[in-house]
Amino acid sequence: MQFVVLTLFPELLESFGNHGIIRRAVELQKISLKTIQIRDFAEGRHRVTDDRPYGGGPGMVMKPEPIARALQAASMEAPDALKIHLTPQGRPFSHTIAGELAQKKGLILLCGRYEGIDERIGDGFIDDEISIGDYILTGGEIAAMVVIDAVSRFIPGVLGCADSCEDDSFSKRLLEHAHYTRPYEFNGEAVPEILLSGDHQRVKHWRLLSSMIRTLLKRKDLLFRRLLTHEELDILQDFQKDIQSILEYQRQAQNNGRNDQ
Ligand code: ADE
Repeated sequence: MQFVVLTLFPELLESFGNHGIIRRAVELQKISLKTIQIRDFAEGRHRVTDDRPYGGGPGMVMKPEPIARALQAASMEAPDALKIHLTPQGRPFSHTIAGELAQKKGLILLCGRYEGIDERIGDGFIDDEISIGDYILTGGEIAAMVVIDAVSRFIPGVLGCADSCEDDSFSKRLLEHAHYTRPYEFNGEAVPEILLSGDHQRVKHWRLLSSMIRTLLKRKDLLFRRLLTHEELDILQDFQKDIQSILEYQRQAQNNGRNDQ
């Protein structure tokens, strides 16, 4: 997968590409990450990339010509890549979209600054618009890093363990189970005994239970988005039975308390 990022701040992306799993993925040639400085394609002694908006108003707008030229240079670098503009007006980014984008040969990511880019770049120069959330960042660079990071995790060989991406929250539409490492006891809390049992079936079931509890408490919307397996349904039914018997016990206890007064 080829990533080419068009930006006024290439150092931000270069630093990102020099650390952790992304760095290793580049070294292993699973991905490539290149930046293009939009200013290099601006004209004049000052290489100006922005200008005042027609119609007036606050802020500056990125000029179209340097961006169009930079996009052309990026297309030479990555001819089959999809051209994406990172903008709060784009379609909301998700695990599913990351997986889809990972099927492409390359991604050219255009990062805006200031009030945004000249509208005419959107018409014909860009294939897709992506937002990483309903808030306004000072530029698209952080959004580009989010996209590169999430997409790269889908590229075979990028993550250490072949199936660790498949096991994630969201691919199963459940939050991930709790994780523990040494020490055995921390802050007065010990690691659940099952995880030390060496019984893989029980560990697997415990992890599913942990996922279900977390999802129910933190993101129950996810439980409405797909059909649950029999095992998952049984777990939910067990929760229901437990809650039911606690409620019955409490009702009984409160009635008895009132009767005693
Ligand atoms: N640029 C500024 N804000 C953004 C956002 N929320 N998503 C993507 N790009 C952006």
